[in-house]
Amino acid sequence: MRLKSKLATALLPLALLLAGTSAEARDWAAIKADGKFIAVTEGAFFPFNYFEGAKLTGFEVEVAEAVAKKLGLAIEWRVVPFDAQVASIRQDRFDFAIASHGYTEERAKSVDFTNPHYCTGGQIAAPKDGALTAAALAGKTVAVQLATSYADSAKKIAGVKEIKTYKADPEAFSALKSKKVDAWISDKWLIKATLEKNADAGIVAGEQVFVERVSAIMRKNNKELAEQWNRGLAEVMKDGTYATLSQKYFKTDVSCH
Ligand code: ARG
Repeated sequence: MRLKSKLATALLPLALLLAGTSAEARDWAAIKADGKFIAVTEGAFFPFNYFEGAKLTGFEVEVAEAVAKKLGLAIEWRVVPFDAQVASIRQDRFDFAIASHGYTEERAKSVDFTNPHYCTGGQIAAPKDGALTAAALAGKTVAVQLATSYADSAKKIAGVKEIKTYKADPEAFSALKSKKVDAWISDKWLIKATLEKNADAGIVAGEQVFVERVSAIMRKNNKELAEQWNRGLAEVMKDGTYATLSQKYFKTDVSCH
C-alpha cells in the first residue's frame, strides 16, 4: 500500500497539470452528448479509491462506474489531491468528485452533495496499549489527513497536544506505525481494511468519535445532473450491484440503511 500511495503521489502533479488545462463542469445535456463524465477522485483512500498498480479502483470508483453505466455513460477519471477537490468543483473544472466526502455545512456552502453512497464514522486507531479513546488523547499527538472531517474532529477533542496533518491518509497511518504520533483518526471502514492488511503493526481500532454520510459532490445548482446521478445510484442499489460491491470490499453492508 505504501508503494502504491507513493506512485499515486508521484502522479499527482502531472494529473493536476492535465486537469488544469481542460474540462469544466457541464450540465446534464452536455455530459450526455459527450457520452462520458469527467470525474475526480484521489486514489489514496483504500479501499474506497486507490491504485492497484496503475489502475484506479476501489469501492466508490466501482460504484461510480456502475452508476455511470446505468446512465449510459463512461467515466474519464482525473486524480486530484483531496484537499484541492472541493475548490476544483466550485471552480467548475469537473462534472463531479467522488472521494469519500462526508457532508459538512462548510462544504455545502460551495458544492452540492448527492444522495449518500455510504454511511460511516471517524474512528481513533492507536497501539493496543495506547490512546484509544477521545479522553485518552489528552496530551497526545494525533495524525489526520489534511482538510478532512477527521482534522475537524481532532480539533474538537479536549486536551490534544498536537494535530499533525498529512497530505494523504496512508502517510498519517505510516506516522502512527513509526511512532511519530500517538494516534490516528480516519474512516472506520478504512481503518478496518488497513489493519487487516497490517496485522503485524500492533495497531488496533478504538473509539468512534463521529458519524457521517458520504456523497459525491457537484457544482452548486446543477440540478438535472444531481437528479440523474441519484436515479442511477438508486438503480444500482436496487438491482444488487451495490450490495455485491459492498460485500466485495467490506464483507458487510455500508449503505445508509
Ligand atoms: N470522510 C472524510 C471527510 O469527509 C475524509 C475523506 C478523505 N477522502 C480521501 N479520498 N482521502 O473529510
